[in-house]
Amino acid sequence: MDIEFVRSRFIKHFDGKTGSVYASPGRINLIGEHTDYNGGYVFPGAVDKGIIAEMRINGTPDTIRAYSIDLKDRLDFRLSDQKPQASWARYIYGICKEMWKLGVPVKGFNIAFAGDVPQGAGMSSSAAMESCFAFGLNDLFGDNKVTPWNMVLAGQATEHNYVGVNCGIMDQFASVFGKSGYVMRLDCRSREFEYFPFDPKGYKLVLLDSAVKHELASSAYNDRRKSCENVVAALAAKFPGRKFETLRDANWDDLAAVKEDVSEEDYKRAHFVLGEADRVLAFSDALTKGDYEEAGRLMYATHEGLSKEYEVSCEELDFLNEIAKANGVTGSRIMGGGFGGCTINLVKEDLYAQFIDDAKKKYAEKYGRVPKVYDVVIGDGSRKLA
Ligand code: GLA
Repeated sequence: MDIEFVRSRFIKHFDGKTGSVYASPGRINLIGEHTDYNGGYVFPGAVDKGIIAEMRINGTPDTIRAYSIDLKDRLDFRLSDQKPQASWARYIYGICKEMWKLGVPVKGFNIAFAGDVPQGAGMSSSAAMESCFAFGLNDLFGDNKVTPWNMVLAGQATEHNYVGVNCGIMDQFASVFGKSGYVMRLDCRSREFEYFPFDPKGYKLVLLDSAVKHELASSAYNDRRKSCENVVAALAAKFPGRKFETLRDANWDDLAAVKEDVSEEDYKRAHFVLGEADRVLAFSDALTKGDYEEAGRLMYATHEGLSKEYEVSCEELDFLNEIAKANGVTGSRIMGGGFGGCTINLVKEDLYAQFIDDAKKKYAEKYGRVPKVYDVVIGDGSRKLA
């Protein structure tokens, strides 16, 4: 996907003029899954795939003329009207409203956009859209006064208020702050983060897409978050003198103390979250030491937890994980929210070809389709292209 492609459609579908062009990426996450809304750490990086949007002020008070190039769908709507029916247009409508709340006097504009982040693969195509549109609105109407962090929060608020997913901040953060060649360790409570150079010599990072997308993924995601909140409420009731905002404030003893006060299911969810918090820190140490074998072991442990305790895996993802193990892949796990999407695999270069061939063959034998393969290239965050 390139800028000329988007530009040609923008010219064709609107009044022949060109506008400004913005890009934002999708993301991978090395480890730290479902920890962001629990105040924990995550380890994402931006990828070299994303969304490109061309935008131009159209002189109307609040009419958005929008064209989704990938869906070949054109829609005009007004910000003073109800949110549009088309789900893709809600991202535009929502981010306009959220940027407005941050003081950006959004008026009418034309927009055409396209993307190459595979949808439903757990690489955050939606965060890429939100960040890209936020970046464009900030530039067109806001004198670029909205800070990158506030754009992250505007994207997250769009999910909460207009899409219905109570997500954390990892995806939008990675899309805004990503840097080519670096992954980032973010503390989601303090919002401090560090760039880590990521160049595991002798290894490759590859995604295998199960091509499964569960219908109820967003409500199941919201349920997981609710379970964590239930445990936090139980902790606050048990220890009135202490402050519990998220599971970040709880240690293993605290969790054990409320085991009988919460449902078995909620306990299991929280047990995963505390384990994952430990794993992200161990993973950072391993990365600093260049110990990729240990990093990989932690990835497998995360998969196990996501599958058995957090229950966000599915048969196909577990199968891909087993194939990785059988092929001697260093680390493999579900990436992103779960309920379908990709596994992320850290594999020694000399095992790569054999692993991919075997995964394609066995997956096709069992499920009748070949998993898509994406080699991960860590790319840049949101930016203006023209
Ligand atoms: C989705 C959400 C993120 C995060 C991950 C799981 O990608 O958007 O905020 O919670 O799931 O780690």
